[in-house]
Amino acid sequence: MSDLQNNNVVFFSGETTPLEMHKARMVQRIYLRDVEKRREIINAAGNNTFLLPNRDVFLDMLTDSGVNAMSEAQYAAMMLADDSYAGSETYYRLEKTVQDFFGFKYFLPAHQGRACENILAIAYVKPGQTVITNYHFTTTKGHITRVGGQVLEAVGEEALKTVSDNPFKGNFDLALLDQQVTETGVDNVSFVRIEAGTNLIGGQPISLANMREVSAYCRKKGLKLVYDASLLADNLYFIKTREKEAFDKSLKELVLEIASLMDIIYFSGRKLGCARGGGISMTHEEDYLRMRDLVPMFEGFLTYGGMSVREMEAMAVGIRETLDFHVISQTPIFVEALGQELIKKNVPVVTPLGGLGCHVDAGRFAPHIPQDQYPSGALAAAIYITGGIRGMERGTLSEQRAPDGSERFSPMELVRLAVPKRVFTLSQMKFVADRLGWLYENRDLVGGLVFVDEPKTLRFFLGRLKPVGDWQERLVAAFKRDMPSGL
Ligand code: F0G
Repeated sequence: MSDLQNNNVVFFSGETTPLEMHKARMVQRIYLRDVEKRREIINAAGNNTFLLPNRDVFLDMLTDSGVNAMSEAQYAAMMLADDSYAGSETYYRLEKTVQDFFGFKYFLPAHQGRACENILAIAYVKPGQTVITNYHFTTTKGHITRVGGQVLEAVGEEALKTVSDNPFKGNFDLALLDQQVTETGVDNVSFVRIEAGTNLIGGQPISLANMREVSAYCRKKGLKLVYDASLLADNLYFIKTREKEAFDKSLKELVLEIASLMDIIYFSGRKLGCARGGGISMTHEEDYLRMRDLVPMFEGFLTYGGMSVREMEAMAVGIRETLDFHVISQTPIFVEALGQELIKKNVPVVTPLGGLGCHVDAGRFAPHIPQDQYPSGALAAAIYITGGIRGMERGTLSEQRAPDGSERFSPMELVRLAVPKRVFTLSQMKFVADRLGWLYENRDLVGGLVFVDEPKTLRFFLGRLKPVGDWQERLVAAFKRDMPSGL
C-alpha cells in the first residue's frame, strides 16, 4: 500500500480541492466581533497579536504550536498515563517511540523546543563561538547568543526572495557553509544546525539531497550536526512530493535516512507529535552524557523532563502518526489552497507556498510603510481589524536591536497565517482570503506602528505599540462602507 493512498482523489469536476481524511468529533465555538470592537481590542492588546485574548479571536492563525487538532488515539493514550516522579511507564513508551522513529539509542525529555535549545546552548556553545545554520529561529538564536555565541546563516540567496519557484529554499549553500567554517575556524564552530521546514523564511523545506551533502561535509570536517526536527512533518511532506528519489520510499524510511545523517536531533513536541512537550535524541553516548545532567537541573527528572505524563502519551502517539501521509499532508494542502486563493486576489505571498502557514509579504503589500515603523506588525494588526484573524509578525519586530540600540532590519517582512493541522475548514480559509483580498485593495490605508513599551529580549512576545496617526479609524470606516454589518 502506498503512503499516498487515498490522497489522490480526483474530483469529477476537475477542481483540485484538499479533501480531509478525518472528521471533527469535538468542536469549539468561536466568535467574530464587530470591526469597531476589533480596533479597540487590538489597541488594548498593544497592537501585538500575541497579547489578544482568545475570546476575541475569530480564526487563530498565530501558530501551529501546541494547537494542532489531536487524534482520538492521542486522547485515548492520555488515559493510560502513568503518573510518577521517577520511572513512569509513560516515559518508557515515549523513549521507545522516539528510538524507533529516529533510530537513535538515547533520548532526553524536555518541556518544549526552546528548553532543548537551552540545554544544547549550555552544553556546546562557549562564549565567542559560532553556530552555523541554514536559517535561525528566534528562540534558537536567543539561547545561543545568551551564552555568548553567535549565529551565521548559510541558506542560498534565493531563500530570502519572497517570489521564487525553488522547491527547497531551506537548502544550505555548501560553498557559503565552507567559507563560514573556514573563516570561523573549525574549532570555533560549536555545531552546524539544520532546521527542518525553515520557519522564519516561510516554512520552506530542505531537501534530502542537501542534508546528505551537509552531513558529509560536517563529517569530513569533524563538525557536530544538530537537526531541529520541530517542523519535520511539513518538510517530510515536501520531500515525499517534490524530491524524485523519495517517491518510492516510505515515510519511515525517509525519517530514518534523515536521522542517520545527524548526530543530535531535537524537537518541539508542540509541532512534531501534536501535543505539548519536547525532547532531544542522540546517537553518541558522549552527547547523551554531556547533556543528561542538565535535564534534572532545568526541566525535571529524567523520566518526565518537565512534561505532564498525559502530554507525553499524546506526543508518543502523535510522533508515530507523523508516518501517516494524511496527517502530514493536511497543513501543506490547506496552505496551498489558501495561498492560491490569495494569489488570485493579488495578495503577495511567499512562494513556493510552504508548510506551517501562508506567509503574506508585508514588504510588497505595504511598501509605503518604512521598516522602522514595522510593516509586518502593522499589517498583522490590520488583518485582525479586517477579519478577527490572528496572524504573527515575522519581520523586523521579531529581530533584536543591535548592541548600539539601532534596529536590525529583517531581510523579509512577513505576516504568518499559520494553518494548524486539522483545525480549520475550507470555508474559513475562503473567509481569510476574502478579507485579505479586501485589505489588499485598501492597502494604502494601512499605516505604521511605534513602540510604547519595548522589552529588551524577544520583544515581539510582549512589546506594546500604537498606530502612527489615525489610519486604523480610516480603515474601519472603509470597512463599514463596504461591509455594513461590520463583520
Ligand atoms: N524550533 C523551531 C523551528 C520552531 O518553530 C520552534 C517554535 C522552536 C524551535 C521552539 O519550540 O515553541 O516548543 O519552545 N516555534 C513556534 C512557532 C513558537 O510559532 O513557530 P517551542
